Amino acid sequence: MDVREIVAELERYLGPDAAALSLPPAAFTSPELWERERERVFGRSWVLVAHVDELAEPGAYVALSVAGEPVVVVRGEDGVLRGLSTVCRHRLMPVVEEGSGRTDVFTCPYHLWRYGLDGRLVGATHMKRNPAFDPSACRLPGFAVEEWQGFVFVNLDASAEPLAPHLRRIGEDLVNYRLPELTQVAGWTEEWHCNWKVAVENAHENYHVMGFHPETLQPTTPGGAETRVRADSPWADSMRVRYAAPLEPVVLDLTEEERAHLYGFFVFPSGSLAASGDMVVWLSLIPSSLDRTLVRGGVLMPTAMVEHQDRDTVRKEAEAYAAMINAEDRRGLEAVQRGAASRFGERGHLSPKEPGVLLFYRSLARALCREDADYPGEL
Ligand code: FES
Ligand SMILES: [Fe+2]
Repeated sequence: MDVREIVAELERYLGPDAAALSLPPAAFTSPELWERERERVFGRSWVLVAHVDELAEPGAYVALSVAGEPVVVVRGEDGVLRGLSTVCRHRLMPVVEEGSGRTDVFTCPYHLWRYGLDGRLVGATHMKRNPAFDPSACRLPGFAVEEWQGFVFVNLDASAEPLAPHLRRIGEDLVNYRLPELTQVAGWTEEWHCNWKVAVENAHENYHVMGFHPETLQPTTPGGAETRVRADSPWADSMRVRYAAPLEPVVLDLTEEERAHLYGFFVFPSGSLAASGDMVVWLSLIPSSLDRTLVRGGVLMPTAMVEHQDRDTVRKEAEAYAAMINAEDRRGLEAVQRGAASRFGERGHLSPKEPGVLLFYRSLARALCREDADYPGEL
């Protein structure tokens, strides 16, 4: 299937009576579609990259690949969060390795050119005798950065429209979870060997819980649980899954509805949050290449809940729990990627228990083929 055929199939998801079918398998393996996604999806979308607790101090940074683009998000001495390309202006070496940390300056490992936290060149040795070189005009390109209720997003399109207006309804839904007062107690970065869409479509449904998470999640949110979804904008949709039994949060003052449901929120293409009693978990599924996905996430809790506990113990418990769930998804999704490469793979019929998957496909189709398409609202 060539890329034009894949895109034509995707466009059908935008029609009024789109069939509830999974993506063509080639959508997960096509290098041409991946090139198109790099440009039309990741070249101009808000990608969730961190929680602000990771970037609290001046000089704190998170460096990662966003669809093959080396990016760093860093807090400057002036307190401003910035997104920068890490590609050295001399001869292309990324000036910082992927990962997180703290620094006063980015020193390129190749010939030691140095850049300030705002991207400006602050030093380059043995360059004075090249009259064509103007150090004052030399700087790392900047990207757009937006912080929304503690979540940090980056957009490779420096002139992108703001994200916050698209998240207004989600913000209202989350008022009782008091996002700005939550603290990150644990975080992780993993790499999964699958196409990013394999991971994102999985996050958009609870149906797989009976298969991938029979002992961990199935008792609380069974795969057959009542599931409702809502699309607010091409960039934002959400999912509500009824718990087997209501939760009893100890710190947050939640309504009966909130105690009875797991709420999932999605910011296309990569970001998601799950609000569950006294806990919010964020997860971002960011491609680094066609078949590699960076999985960054964290567990947030009300400060009041953890202030009398040993932070290390809380962190270890939360990390161990997340690692268990992530391992279950990872094992399954890496197998799905192998299935997607089979010559005998075909599109399949979706269950009414996975309506969120179709919302994701619509956002994808809109980004890749028809930006003027409208949205269905509640399903
Ligand atoms: S490539 Fe960075 S200093 Fe030469
Ligand atoms: Fe899962």
